[in-house]
Amino acid sequence: MKPLRLGVIGLGVGEQHILAARARPGWELAALCDFSPEKLAEVSARHPGIPATADADSVIDDPSIDLVTIASWDNFHHAQILRALEKGKHVFVEKPLCLSREEAKDIRSALRAHPRLRLSSNLILRRSLRFMQVKALIDAGRLGDLYHLEADYNYGRLGKITEGWRAEIPFYSVIYGGGVHMVDLMMWFTGGDVTEVTAYGNRLATRGTAFRFDDCVTSILRFRNGATGKMGANFGCVYPHFHQVSVYGTKATFQNTLEGGKLVVDRAPGAPVEAVDAPYPGCQKGELLGGFMDGILAGREPEIPADAVFRTMSVCFAIEESARKGIPVTVEYV
Ligand SMILES: NC(=O)c1ccc[n+]([C@@H]2O[C@H](COP(=O)([O-])OP(=O)(O)OC[C@H]3O[C@@H](n4cnc5c(N)ncnc54)[C@H](O)[C@@H]3O)[C@@H](O)[C@H]2O)c1
Repeated sequence: MKPLRLGVIGLGVGEQHILAARARPGWELAALCDFSPEKLAEVSARHPGIPATADADSVIDDPSIDLVTIASWDNFHHAQILRALEKGKHVFVEKPLCLSREEAKDIRSALRAHPRLRLSSNLILRRSLRFMQVKALIDAGRLGDLYHLEADYNYGRLGKITEGWRAEIPFYSVIYGGGVHMVDLMMWFTGGDVTEVTAYGNRLATRGTAFRFDDCVTSILRFRNGATGKMGANFGCVYPHFHQVSVYGTKATFQNTLEGGKLVVDRAPGAPVEAVDAPYPGCQKGELLGGFMDGILAGREPEIPADAVFRTMSVCFAIEESARKGIPVTVEYV
């Protein structure tokens, strides 16, 4: 059978897409694209023999290409996804899917018009060995009923928002850029039915820099079954890059801390705790893409189906709206 062909747009984290795709049986890398000539030359030199271009549309419009992976800056995702779907391509896009509810609705409509096509997004923490271990513990009932979750994205890389594209594009959101991973973990752990959110943000840590948006957002989430959650996207923190997660259940509490993962199973002071010691983060950034490609060949839904991506993004849109307006916002699922 002729191999399917894919093109990769954006060669920062997109190089991880190349690495995942190179070794994939049944697939051929047909195009690498970056509008920075230096980046294109640098990454192409590491992956010789693959046609390279600065023009993303030429990749998307190429009739011989079956799958486009999009790792361009956030503000380009919506137009590139729409164009790719309209040209009959499967799409694997970096997070965030897009930058507004309206954009997400467009993408939903385009997918409905092309039901054969698959779409997923790189919500990679679902592949973290540590968080997969937690999910298995939850599914096995070890935590009992979940009633409260806290997930803080401590970005720890101030320079990445005060310099470079995150400071330059027309709109950047730390909720869509990082908080999305935390919302997605909470959706995955709980089965995800958030009905309402309240959020506040500030931009004190980046005062006096080129970054123009809130760098720290805190949100309270209400789930339909009465459970609560707290999401933090803290991009200015003095802290290493880290996902600080607590999951409170009626039988046990999981915590991911700098010192390691632990399951607290006893209320008594000093009682032993169980280690949750699968590697953290324990995943490669291209892992979900590999599975996505295998799924296309096998006619299988992706590990993170489009619907799950829309649901996570819908909660993020509500958080962004609440932080902007200063009022609770009902989640409208796209
Ligand atoms: N899933 C994850 O954990 C994860 C991690 C990092 C970045 N990302 C996402 O990946 C995307 C890229 O981020 P990055 O950190 O790799 O940025 P980056 O600047 O390091 O790399 C992006 C590259 O894409 C190129 N580019 C941007 N827009 C383009 C376009 N329209 N056409 C052609 N080339 C284009 C840039 O020149 C740059 O070389 C962002 O959406 C980001 O949120 C996701």
